[in-house]
Formats: sequence, C-alpha cells, structure tokens
Amino acid sequence: MKWFFILSGLIACTGKPVRSSCPVNMSPSRVVVRFGDPFSVNCSSPSNQLQSMGWESTYGTGIGRQDGVSSVSLEIDSVKDWDLTPLCFINLLDNHQCAETLSVTVYKIPDSVSMSQPSQMGPMVEGEKYHMQCDIVNVAPVRNLSVNWHKGNKIIYTEEFDKTSPSPVNTSSVLNLTAQRSDNGTQIWCEAQLKFSPPVPNLHTIQSKSHEVVVLYSPTFTRPENETLELSAGSTIILNCTATGNPMPVYSWHFPHPIQQTKNKNENQPILAPSIQLSGTYTCTASNTQGTKTKTFTVIEATRNRTTFAALVGVFLCVAALLFIVGFFFVTPEGTFSFSKGSYLKGQPTSSGPV
Ligand SMILES: *[C@@H]1O[C@H](CO)[C@@H](O)[C@H](O)[C@H]1NC(C)=O
Ligand SMILES: *[C@@H]1O[C@H](CO)[C@@H](O)[C@H](O)[C@H]1NC(C)=O
Ligand SMILES: *[C@@H]1O[C@H](CO)[C@@H](O)[C@H](O)[C@H]1NC(C)=O
Ligand SMILES: *[C@@H]1O[C@H](CO)[C@@H](O)[C@H](O)[C@H]1NC(C)=O
Ligand SMILES: *[C@@H]1O[C@H](CO)[C@@H](O)[C@H](O)[C@H]1NC(C)=O
Ligand SMILES: *[C@@H]1O[C@H](CO)[C@@H](O)[C@H](O)[C@H]1NC(C)=O
Ligand SMILES: *[C@@H]1O[C@H](CO)[C@@H](O)[C@H](O)[C@H]1NC(C)=O
Repeated sequence: MKWFFILSGLIACTGKPVRSSCPVNMSPSRVVVRFGDPFSVNCSSPSNQLQSMGWESTYGTGIGRQDGVSSVSLEIDSVKDWDLTPLCFINLLDNHQCAETLSVTVYKIPDSVSMSQPSQMGPMVEGEKYHMQCDIVNVAPVRNLSVNWHKGNKIIYTEEFDKTSPSPVNTSSVLNLTAQRSDNGTQIWCEAQLKFSPPVPNLHTIQSKSHEVVVLYSPTFTRPENETLELSAGSTIILNCTATGNPMPVYSWHFPHPIQQTKNKNENQPILAPSIQLSGTYTCTASNTQGTKTKTFTVIEATRNRTTFAALVGVFLCVAALLFIVGFFFVTPEGTFSFSKGSYLKGQPTSSGPV
C-alpha cells in the first residue's frame, strides 16, 4: 500500500504512468495498420482472480464480455476509422474493473509527392535564395511523416511534422536554397516516408520527380591573377584566358599594337597566340549575361635571353678573333694549313712537332 502511494505520487508528478496497473497483456502490443486493411489482436490476463473479460470497440468481431476466459481476441476485417481506440477490460472476482487501450496507428501512404518552386523552375542565379516546396497530398498520420530533400547523392534537409491530426492531410515542406555554381547540373528531389518506431518497419518512400538545377553565374578565370610573360626567340607566347561561367563566356582581346588587332582572326577564343609577337599589355575580356571580367597579360622582352644572346655573340667574336690570329700564324702562303710553316714538305712526313 505504501508503494502504491509512492507510485501514485510519481505518476502525479510526471503526469504519465510508466506502466499500466491493469494485469492484461496484448499481442501484438501495438498495431500499425493501413486504412482499409484487417488486423487482429489478442488480450490475455495472467490474473487468477478473473471473473470475465472482453473488448470494447466500435466494430469488429470479438466485442463484448465473456465469462470464464483468460484471453479474448478482437478481429477487424477492414479499418474504417482514423482514430481507433479498442479497449480490453477485465472484471475481477472482487468487482474490481480495469481496462487498457490498444494503441492503433492507422496510416495512409500519400497519393502524390511533388515539387514546385515559386519561380516556375526556371534557371537560378548564383547567390540568390530560393524556396522550393514539396507537396504531399493525403497522408496520415502526419506526425509520422518525414520528408527528405536530396541534392545529387546527398540528403541536404529533413523535415518532420509535429501536427497531430490522425486523419489524412495535405502538407508541404519548404527547402531554402542559396544557389551555388557547383549546384549547376545536379538533381534535386524530395521524398516522403512514414516512419514508425521499431519493430514496425518504415514504409517505402514516395519520391517526387527530380528537377535538374541550372545556376547562372558570371565568368571566373581559371587563373584569376594577371600574368606577365616573356617574349623569347623561337617560341610563341600563349595567353590563356580560360574562364568558367554559365552561360559559356564569350571572349574578346585587346592588343597593345593596332596592327595586331587586324591580323588576329581567333580573337574570340580563350587561348591567344598572337600572330605578331610584340611586347605590351594584352587585355582579355570574358563576358556572359551575368557579368564581365577582365584579365591583363603583360608581355615583356626577355631580358635574361638578351644577356644569353650577348654572351653568345661575345663567345662567337672571341672564337673569330682566335681563328684569325691562328690563321695569321699558321696558314701558308699557298692557303693550306700547316702546324710547321717553314719545314713543310708536300707528300712527306715531317719530323718536327708542333710549335
Ligand atoms: C490469438 O490467440 C489465438 C488462440 O490463442 C491464436 O490462434 C491467434 O493466432 C492469436 N492471434 C493473435 C493476433 O495473436
Ligand atoms: C488535399 O489536396 C487534394 C488535391 O489537391 C484535395 O482533393 C483534397 O481535398 C485536399 N485534402 C485536404 C484535407 O485538404
Ligand atoms: C526558410 O525561409 C523562410 C523565409 O525566409 C523562413 O521563414 C524559414 O524558417 C526558413 N526555413 C528554414 C528551414 O531555414
Ligand atoms: C550547367 O548545367 C547544364 C545542364 O546540366 C549544362 O548543360 C551546362 O553545361 C552546365 N554549365 C556549366 C558551366 O557547368
Ligand atoms: C509516430 O511518431 C511519433 C512521434 O515521432 C512517435 O512517438 C510514434 O511512436 C510514432 N508511431 C509509431 C506507430 O511508431
Ligand atoms: C589586373 O590588372 C588590372 C589593370 O592593370 C587591375 O585593375 C586589376 O586589379 C588586376 N587584377 C588582379 C587580380 O591583380
Ligand atoms: C588554359 O588553362 C586551362 C585552365 O588552367 C587549362 O585547362 C588549359 O589546358 C590551358 N590551355 C592551354 C592551351 O594552355
């Protein structure tokens, strides 16, 4: 009795009984059933003070009081209510009566799951915020509904609902999305699923059609920094102005010397190899509907190469001078070359060595 009061006190404090004091066992202990489907459940009591027991329900077979039994079963052919609360009661020999409600969750998978975006699914613009909506029609119970938003192969947002209506409702989930260039070309879709606590398995998901995202963004150079290139003899300079953007950027070049402007035919290309290689500042512009970007290429005379050239010329001059000197001393008056000017004899080996 002392324990009973303590327990009552606990119930009063927490507001919910941890365990029913009515000695009945239900099998299964709770029911998750699709609207229109059948189910059956057994209620039994281990009490040896049992006088009678039975089910109380608006419909089904097995309703009513039965004497002298220790189990009663309720069978429902087709669930016709969203809020079903069958009650299993027992009457004990001391006239004590108690009852327990069977937990029944009646569900309905959605008729449709579809996605919409206020701006009619047109292209998005990088950096702008968008609200995408997923409409779920005729689902019950909404508090067990979970909506997942997929982008590519990732779930980017999950929404659950705390409405309590047991009957079917129309509901929607809104995804806030800031358009990013990396989203261009990815698929977005939503899916709805009814989730129940174990051991009830989750029902299969219903997916919306997927939507291919198009994000418009202004040109961005693959190498954004301005570049400095050196002109070197024998190799052509290549100016690489490649940019990404949606729509595809168009290019235009501005040359340092007007004559180049007329000579270059491929000036609408991202890669430029000037047909007349001259130093100066080349400017490339990449533009699309979302913006225009400019990059400069400074082409300079290769100073290091000029020193190399000077060095080469220097070496060449030295060699020439040397040859001249050598020639002056060793070339014979006939024009043939000899190591030993005085003692040279045609067709005969000479004994004297070089000077
Ligand atoms: C209820 O009990 C009866 C008899 O014990 C058994 O045949 C039936 O399968 C049980 N039903 C459920 C739903 O457990
Ligand atoms: C849900 O939407 C459907 C179709 O749009 C409509 O026929 C139905 O009446 C709506 N149900 C509720 C509960 O609003
Ligand atoms: C989405 O944006 C709306 C309006 O800006 C805001 O009310 C809502 O809380 C946002 N939702 C989420 C999940 O951030
Ligand atoms: C953006 O996506 C569209 C559609 O998939 C694709 O055709 C286009 O090439 C993409 N553009 C960029 C710059 O990635
Ligand atoms: C439905 O969802 C609620 C809230 O998440 C949860 O407490 C309850 O157990 C769920 N119902 C079933 C049958 O699993
Ligand atoms: C490139 O050069 C231009 C003009 O010379 C200048 O306005 C711009 O800020 C430079 N950009 C970078 C990334 O240094
Ligand atoms: C130009 O630069 C891009 C990006 O860095 C690169 O993919 C491409 O191969 C380069 N083209 C040339 C001709 O160098």
